[in-house]
Amino acid sequence: MNIRILNSREDLNATAAAVIASLLLNKPQAMLGLATGSTPIGIYRQLVEMYRKGQVSFARAYSVNLDEYVGLPPEHPQSYRSFMNEHLFQHIDIPLAHTRVPDGNAADLAAECAAHEQAILDHGPVDVQLLGIGHNGHIGFNEPGQGLKGATHVVDLEEGTRAANARFFGNIADVPKQAVTMGVGTILKAKQIILVAFGADKADIVKQAFTGPVTTECPASLLQCHPNVLILLDQEAGGWLI
Ligand code: GLP
Repeated sequence: MNIRILNSREDLNATAAAVIASLLLNKPQAMLGLATGSTPIGIYRQLVEMYRKGQVSFARAYSVNLDEYVGLPPEHPQSYRSFMNEHLFQHIDIPLAHTRVPDGNAADLAAECAAHEQAILDHGPVDVQLLGIGHNGHIGFNEPGQGLKGATHVVDLEEGTRAANARFFGNIADVPKQAVTMGVGTILKAKQIILVAFGADKADIVKQAFTGPVTTECPASLLQCHPNVLILLDQEAGGWLI
């Protein structure tokens, strides 16, 4: 694992965006694995800026997202589809038909999970997978515990996860209780993984995930088994390393 501590969040965003942009320069038809949450927003802002300056094009790229809430229609303002459109897709030249966010509102969720895996097989493998990390060590929505699954599946969200995400909904009662998420096996098939974390509140879980044992009790720790992981931290999240 390559762990880097950046001086500022701007440096962190620029470093992650540069990896994605240089991938696209070398492989315009690359498949990007994308994440939601507050962490990647600055990276997407940076990519939009690079696109506007003509430094990168997504015209031939494909994207696949990690997860989506169950029960939210794609047009719901808090759906991850809306998030991606708002923060990235509508500002760049990626064809929307090349982007895939799981449909958490599908009538047959098992079929939707299988379709997500198939899309990765059709246009993948994922060349670079962007990840944040939850306070309990979750990646995507893979919650800690022995029930960790490999492939895309439906997961029950922990109360702590729902509470953390309630800030986007205004009221915890409105936060869905389930999500569709790529499994850890799906995530580990990406050729490269970039995990990004900032802020003092992520320091403990980042330390546990990358210096502690590999355990399903901390799903991010399974990334220790991947041969090409870049971990980008700001000073607050990575201070324990210095
Ligand atoms: C959500 C997402 C994760 C994300 C995590 C952390 O639960 N499903 O993909 O990594 O939140 O979010 P944030 O970046 O807002 O701390």
